[in-house]
Amino acid sequence: MDESYANLIVSQQERIGIVQLNRPQALNALNSELMDELVRALQAFDADDSIGCIVVTGSEKAFAAGADIKQMANAGVVEMMGSPFIGYWDAVQRIAKPIVAAVSGFCLGGGCELAMTCDLIVASETAQFGQPEINLGIIPGAGGTQRLTRAVGKSVAMDMILTGRRISAQEALQFGLVSRVFPTASFMDESLKLAAEIADKAPVALRVAKEAVNRAFESTLAEGVLFERRAFNLLFATEDQKEGMAAFIEKRKAIWQGK
Ligand code: CAA
Repeated sequence: MDESYANLIVSQQERIGIVQLNRPQALNALNSELMDELVRALQAFDADDSIGCIVVTGSEKAFAAGADIKQMANAGVVEMMGSPFIGYWDAVQRIAKPIVAAVSGFCLGGGCELAMTCDLIVASETAQFGQPEINLGIIPGAGGTQRLTRAVGKSVAMDMILTGRRISAQEALQFGLVSRVFPTASFMDESLKLAAEIADKAPVALRVAKEAVNRAFESTLAEGVLFERRAFNLLFATEDQKEGMAAFIEKRKAIWQGK
């Protein structure tokens, strides 16, 4: 990847694309410049056949402490309505490849919403999740009221959004907001190991699996099951399905072509 970014550190490790938010002086607060770079970096990995899975991470101290309050403080309603800012989270949602949010430290407001827009969240023991917007006289604006509620249920979401309280990594695990919590010392290694495991799977099946799971949030059960059935059947048109099943029968490792 030759593009350089002012607010990100972008790298590749085998089939994993890694995007590290890097605005340490503001605890990775998400301003429009950072979000624009993030979306461009994700789109570049999405278009790159050598990438199977993307990891979005921050620093040990902060995944991201929210949208940049200083950038928003003086905005008026018409300016907010015309701003492309929240659309960056929508653009993250449109990435087709799996995205793991690897969260250490503060994961607040728009940062928590960014993590929830990714496909799964893994956390270091130090991670703290919260939607503190109520303390600023606003509410979550990048999907938090919807995605947090779907992730943890109404009571916990109301508790977090109405009080602004932060929850620990262990609570987040218990509530189903994160899938795994790793010890601080091995957090990044473990996160990359998980991403490598995903990146090693059949690319078309990964893409279709992501679409099908996300469909659960957008449809009735009957429609979602129908979508899944069509997607399942469609995969029988791929070379990877033939290879995956032949490899199982021949007791060998499958070699995926992404076709
Ligand atoms: N926006 C802009 N700057 C921020 C920021 C944010 N969201 N969060 C932290 N910073 C800045 C601070 O202003 C400070 O900068 P200066 O040194 O120039 O003063 C620097 O980062 C370090 O922060 P603190 O000194 O506050 O660090 P701390 O360790 O004492 O506290 C914290 C850490 C609890 C995360 C605290 O910084 C905090 O509460 N941040 C704001 C969290 C928040 O309210 N997030 C929601 C934002 S609104 C939003 O996200 C809307 C949406 O849904 C899209």
